[in-house]
Amino acid sequence: MAESMKGWKRSHRCTELSCANAGEEVTVMGWVQKQRNKGGIIFVDLRDRSGILQIIFEESDCGSESFAKAEKMRSEFVIAVQGRVERRSGAVNENLATGEIEIRAKQTRILSESDTPPFPVEADSRTKEEIRLKYRYLDLRRPDLQQKMMLRSDITSKMRAFMAQEGFLEIETPILCKSTPEGARDYLVPSRVHPGNFYALPQSPQLYKQLLMCSGYDRYFQIARCFRDEDLRADRQPEFTQADMELSFVDVDDVIEVNERLIQYVCRETIGLDVTIPFPRMTWKEAMERYGSDKPDTRFEMELVNVSDVAADCEFGVFTSAIQNGGSVRGITVKGQAAMPRKKIDALVEFAKGYGAKGLAYLCVQEDGSYKSSFAKFMTKEQLDQLVQAMKGEKGDLLLFAADKNAIVYNVLGALRVELGKQLGLIDESKFNFLWIVEFPLLEWSEEEGRFMAMHHPFTMPMEEDWQYIDSDPGRVRAKAYDIVLNGVELGGGSVRIHQDDIQEKMFEVLGFTKEKAWEQFGFLLSAFQYGVPPHAGLAYGLDRFVMLLVHADNIREVIAFPKVKDASCLMTEAPGRVDEKQLDELQISIMEKAQEEQGTQQ
Ligand code: AMO
Ligand code: AMP
Repeated sequence: MAESMKGWKRSHRCTELSCANAGEEVTVMGWVQKQRNKGGIIFVDLRDRSGILQIIFEESDCGSESFAKAEKMRSEFVIAVQGRVERRSGAVNENLATGEIEIRAKQTRILSESDTPPFPVEADSRTKEEIRLKYRYLDLRRPDLQQKMMLRSDITSKMRAFMAQEGFLEIETPILCKSTPEGARDYLVPSRVHPGNFYALPQSPQLYKQLLMCSGYDRYFQIARCFRDEDLRADRQPEFTQADMELSFVDVDDVIEVNERLIQYVCRETIGLDVTIPFPRMTWKEAMERYGSDKPDTRFEMELVNVSDVAADCEFGVFTSAIQNGGSVRGITVKGQAAMPRKKIDALVEFAKGYGAKGLAYLCVQEDGSYKSSFAKFMTKEQLDQLVQAMKGEKGDLLLFAADKNAIVYNVLGALRVELGKQLGLIDESKFNFLWIVEFPLLEWSEEEGRFMAMHHPFTMPMEEDWQYIDSDPGRVRAKAYDIVLNGVELGGGSVRIHQDDIQEKMFEVLGFTKEKAWEQFGFLLSAFQYGVPPHAGLAYGLDRFVMLLVHADNIREVIAFPKVKDASCLMTEAPGRVDEKQLDELQISIMEKAQEEQGTQQ
């Protein structure tokens, strides 16, 4: 039996009440967290998004009809209660915001009953995530998730407030776009009106925001939904949200300056965190050399050391051949881990292989000063001493080395460093280390494509002083591109854009686009640039990642109301799904038999 709320109006959320309201008549509504029947007296914990409030039912106060309803109440029933706020007669509950008060019920209504939920609605749930995601609407009732969603809302509203105050205009850009090669794979949407043609969902509002600069809007901002069909990780979703901006008549420092103030404002106004600005800046090259990563976690040390000089003359073929092939030998010093069991070291070797290493060489500086090492027999004692010295190794330390092409060495040691930092508890979780990475390479060589690709995107401005190398040594040209990194996660990125057609044309040429192809793909932008384009630059944050880090969540799914899982499906709605033949006919699409067979065998 579900009753209506006719004539009743909620007066307060649960935790809006306190001792200050003692004696007041109030009406509260929400979900039953728990009902305890002690015979003549029934306690109900009422929950809403603000928290929990205790209701007390006694027949002498509420009459037999309401008391009978209270007897029926079970977890997750939706109820309304009219009653009086009182100081608790029993013990104060220190764990509740409303622990000093209770509502003495006068009347109650059961607005909706509930089946027994598949898992209890409680903080720190131990229920498997798949089950929670299938019943996400129940999962979202859990107080820890609700707090994250409320904080997310607070973060976006504070961002909006700051941006408006700084003169940014919020402008929406299309979701149905033209497919342009911008990095990840596009999600496509077939057109009914233009059979055989497809829209692409935006990977970011990049081109539109540049067009808005051409149109004179000067400072643009948007909380924009983006779509990328790429492999998912703990900090990636196929659809995600960017806090996206673009500014005219600015250079790198202007973008960085306004964004530092934005971050400072948002951190202070939402979680009360005071961050010091300006943030440190590090070049991409320094980040790679010191941390093996363009998103270094600077909350702990264990920096990479280049020991190629020392390793060049030894008899260890792994080291010498890497150096001869233009690569390097680099290592990290793991403090106090010389006694790490062999099994654990082997696991680290396997971990390194997962990041492309052919192996991992180690050296333990034992307590008696002697060395235990996988390559000791290939080096003289003097060479080993030199190596240990270069690594600043001390008694009790474990030294790990990778030898390969630089890109692989960085990748392997960068990942290993973070893994060890986690495993050994070296990371101070209370720190918020914001860091700018600047001077990214403009181009990156793709083995797969056999050509240079834009590291950020094809509209990124090269640094003036490096432009001279664009023909002779394209890989050497640095870009006016920057990333903002927080605790080892890439929070956002952006660049100054090219606004001169000669530079843009050259860029396309280096990227292997013919003039025709460039016009075919980006004609609307190139055309707009012929009618007066201001110098402009911008940046976009991964908003989900920002929230994830501010709330100390481990996974991006915890800060997205309805996230997708690893294979990009939604466990609750079961999207993606098959569609009717009729829908396909309208779109003039037929599914190839092979695909149908494969789908059939999966079911
Ligand atoms: P970029 O591709 O670096 O730049 O994206 C900006 C930020 O968006 C976040 N992000 C993601 N978050 C969750 N899931 C994903 N799959 C995902 N992909 C990216 C990251 C990233 O730093 N248009 C440019 C910005 C510009 O130049 O102004 C752009 O999209 O936090
Ligand atoms: P191997 O000669 O392959 O038996 O390797 C000898 C030692 O060197 C083992 O401890 C390997 O893990 C290590 N090793 C192999 N390849 C590399 C590499 N590219 N970088 C660092 N160590 C390596």
